[in-house]
Amino acid sequence: MNRNDYKIEDTFLWGGATAANQVEGAYNIDGKGLSTFDIIPFFTKEELKDRTGLPSEISEDEMLAVLNNKTSHTNFPKRRGTNFYSYFKEDIALFAEMGYKVYRFSIAWTRLFPTGFEKLPDKKGINFYRSVIAECKRYGIEPLITMSHYEMPWVISDQLNGWESKETIELFLKYTKVLLDEFSADVKYWIPFNEMNMTLISPYHGGGIIPERIRSNNIQSASFQAVHNQFVAAAKTINYGRSIANDLQFGCMIARLETYAETCKPEDQLAALKEEQMNVFYYEVAATGEYPRYLDRYLIENTIEFEKNEAEVKLLKNNIYDFLAFSYYNTYVVSEKKNEKTVDGKGNGNLIDSQENPYVKISDWGWPIDSIGFRITLNRLYDKFRLPLFVAENGLGAHDTFENGKIHDEYRIDYLSDHIEALTEAVKDGVKVLGYTAWTAIDLVSCGTNEMSKRYGFIYVDVDDYGKGTYERYRKDSFYWYKEVIASNGESIK
Ligand code: BG6
Repeated sequence: MNRNDYKIEDTFLWGGATAANQVEGAYNIDGKGLSTFDIIPFFTKEELKDRTGLPSEISEDEMLAVLNNKTSHTNFPKRRGTNFYSYFKEDIALFAEMGYKVYRFSIAWTRLFPTGFEKLPDKKGINFYRSVIAECKRYGIEPLITMSHYEMPWVISDQLNGWESKETIELFLKYTKVLLDEFSADVKYWIPFNEMNMTLISPYHGGGIIPERIRSNNIQSASFQAVHNQFVAAAKTINYGRSIANDLQFGCMIARLETYAETCKPEDQLAALKEEQMNVFYYEVAATGEYPRYLDRYLIENTIEFEKNEAEVKLLKNNIYDFLAFSYYNTYVVSEKKNEKTVDGKGNGNLIDSQENPYVKISDWGWPIDSIGFRITLNRLYDKFRLPLFVAENGLGAHDTFENGKIHDEYRIDYLSDHIEALTEAVKDGVKVLGYTAWTAIDLVSCGTNEMSKRYGFIYVDVDDYGKGTYERYRKDSFYWYKEVIASNGESIK
């Protein structure tokens, strides 16, 4: 290979991403069933102080109160999203104006199978997504579909405790077969599960597991069972996809938690290695079809048990993924001593315990900003697994000021330009990257904190945390900047 070949290729997929439960709204329109995320209320900063974990981990009592209309909460932002359900044509036209080559979005399982148990899918759900795909195609935008971006039919969570149960595998397969039958002629890229590692970090959020109802010996076993069941469901989906079309590409996605050791003290280095192993074992399964050996010790020492049979082991081995996708927001710092908790219910939404990193700035939500970490991550993951990478999410959640129809978001441009520069450097380092879908294509409801005021988009949507606003769309300064980046294939960054 010539050194000059180490550059962003002309086929590189530039674009943006969203998730159904954060943009669509219309939570009870056209027969849609209730999803596990539709029942999560908005918690004020005051309320968050008394909670632990992500706000999306709600207790069984809180859930039942919501379902039985016995809650004092009346604000459910994910039920509204930013009303993509009505605005999708306008939104995709704006994505096309930016020059998107790819649009990553997810499908709400509950639009096709409202409870998950129906025999046949709802045609209205299929038609909606057919229209979304057609709209992308009209502008030459490649759709990249996430089959499950966390949410699942609430009824599956209620009746089977979500992904803890093996029965959920077949319900998911019924759903993904419909997606592949209906859309594989137009959709080449598929991610079965968004950020698979979230199920261990936040069991309800990632696995629809209600902790009070676990069937396993402890919550960690229930979560590992869920992860394994998701791997099996994805393998069955990949197997089916490959049986009906030969050009489909399947990606395994994780939330990348690039972790530094606090010092060069060997004990700190070991702590960082262990964090790394717990973050990449998903990729081991995706790339080799086998669980890594280091996991055995972890399972035994933490009394974790989950059921995996011979047939499943073989299935994983025979259905290796085509690419490795990940979200990258920030880096973490660990040491052998007990870390200060950052997932502390204060509403910052960081994913694992971390020490402070004095060398990097932090965002409005306290997330470290580290573009060099992004280059390190890209190198580390590609060197280890040698499968093409896809940056499925990267972006900055910030407060935007809306004045006279303008949003001057230079902080977002700074964040993204540093990260895209790091991406360009990683490609020069020899890393193979298929595409980059910034988080987010358009403002949406925050996943972790349920706020509208934590904005990520290139397009501003005029609506607040309480659903007040016109829902009109406005181009931010970053919109014009990203358009230039795409037009120049990443050359025009600053
Ligand atoms: C990722 C999720 O973990 O992080 C997205 O896949 C989410 O759904 C994103 O929106 C940013 O997190 P948050 O909590 O700021 O929305």
